[in-house]
Amino acid sequence: MSRSILFVAGEGLPFIKTGGLADVIGSLPNVLAKRGHDVRVALPLYKKVIEKYYDQLERLGTIQVHSGWIDQPATFYKTEVDGVVYYFVEHQGYFERDGLYGYDDDGERFAFFQRAVLDMIYFIDWWPNIIHSNDWQTGMIPLLAHACYGDDYRYQNIKHVYTIHNMAFQGNFGVDMLPSCLGLDYYYFDNGSVKFDSGISFMKSGIVYADKITTVSPSYAQEILTEAYGERMDGVLRYRREDLWGIVNGIDVNDWNPKTDKRLAKNYDVRSYVSGKKANKKSLQEELGLEVRDDVPLIGLVSRLTNQKGVYMITDKINEILGMDVQFAVLGTGEKAAEDSFKWMESAYKGKAVYYCGYNEDLAHRIYAGSDIFLMPSLYEPCGIGQLIAMRYGALPLVRETGGLRDTVQPYNQYTGEGNGFSFWAMNPDDMVYTIAYAVDQYYNNKPGWKGLVKSAMQTDVSWERSADIYEQLYYTICNWSDE
Ligand code: ADP
Ligand code: GLC
Repeated sequence: MSRSILFVAGEGLPFIKTGGLADVIGSLPNVLAKRGHDVRVALPLYKKVIEKYYDQLERLGTIQVHSGWIDQPATFYKTEVDGVVYYFVEHQGYFERDGLYGYDDDGERFAFFQRAVLDMIYFIDWWPNIIHSNDWQTGMIPLLAHACYGDDYRYQNIKHVYTIHNMAFQGNFGVDMLPSCLGLDYYYFDNGSVKFDSGISFMKSGIVYADKITTVSPSYAQEILTEAYGERMDGVLRYRREDLWGIVNGIDVNDWNPKTDKRLAKNYDVRSYVSGKKANKKSLQEELGLEVRDDVPLIGLVSRLTNQKGVYMITDKINEILGMDVQFAVLGTGEKAAEDSFKWMESAYKGKAVYYCGYNEDLAHRIYAGSDIFLMPSLYEPCGIGQLIAMRYGALPLVRETGGLRDTVQPYNQYTGEGNGFSFWAMNPDDMVYTIAYAVDQYYNNKPGWKGLVKSAMQTDVSWERSADIYEQLYYTICNWSDE
């Protein structure tokens, strides 16, 4: 039974990306659309999207959005990619900026976005069965839909799914945001439902008011019920635990396909990976100024450089890691301390280690293809997309056993030959170094074992298909599809 679903998010491929959320928004809707659902996506119209895609957008019209104390115009645009309709909300002052988030007025910006998306439904006269909101930028939608459009049954019939991609980013703002930007009464603060400390939290509101809450792996769904991982929302999550589902992410296996990827020096698949990876390693070494050697294990890292990603475990142990006969290619931006350490690493280990400071989609593809080991020792990881891509490209993930990393990477068992990567459990840099040394030893001294590992990594199902089944079940559950 096909249904209509509106995904709402702060970013999504192919238009705009800062992290894994964009990968998810750029791939799950397509898979659901291919299964016959009417799937649409709503995003803010950022400057970068205008620069690249303006010609492809159809202007739908402008309305006045009542975002609290003032009415402001929102213009809606539309385009279609691969069977999915994308809507964009234009507000020049709020969204035509260089970055996406991290501005002082983020609360105001995304309050407007959420109200505009809800108004847009009326404007285009398309009434989805489900609104699927994602992360703090859209956490107010379930409450807004009930509280601000209460007399319209078409809004009240909509069911709400709220997906948490990262508990650490909560959208916490001052309480005055309620009347001034959202058009909501202080009542929702007074009754505690959106109250967080002395202000309000968009994410908490999503958790309280959505019909179902999901997060992006079963392990993370368990972890966030604890004080250690709950980012002070474990209490409210425990209160809603019956409605919390953990569904692991997939990737778009057509976009991420070493057999057809145009950015690679040579294409390969599971049958031809030996020569394929060899050619890609050579070309990556040349591109990055690493010593050209095909016998050495190349460790890759493509990541936001933040504490979440365990980067300080790595920077603390640079000398020990590079004391081994390995090469290390790092791509990422983030905290200055981490960037500085990797810059130092490059200068201290010329020809052996390299750091590309920036965001570079093309290089990311080539690092996945040219690496033997993909390092991802996150302190916490809701799901992780990097390790999924790495497996598809035959780079063995070396991860900490947390969240989605634990659910997707099966550590090598040298006795049975099982596994698709390497892992360690404790948040301890020595354990990480020990595991890297173990992997490097396997690379040099257990060639058949390594081959088996690369094969099973490349054959691991990292597509959306299984998880799309579960999302469909979830949608069935809240819409009582089985009754129909
Ligand atoms: P998160 O969303 O927490 O940053 P994920 O592993 O879920 O982590 O997703 C990260 C995504 O962003 C992956 O697709 C990864 O390849 C990509 N990525 C991260 N940093 C960079 C970069 N500097 N250049 C290109 N791609 C990057
Ligand atoms: C967040 C998480 C990451 C996850 C991504 C997509 O950015 O940090 O683990 O893969 O969202 O769900």
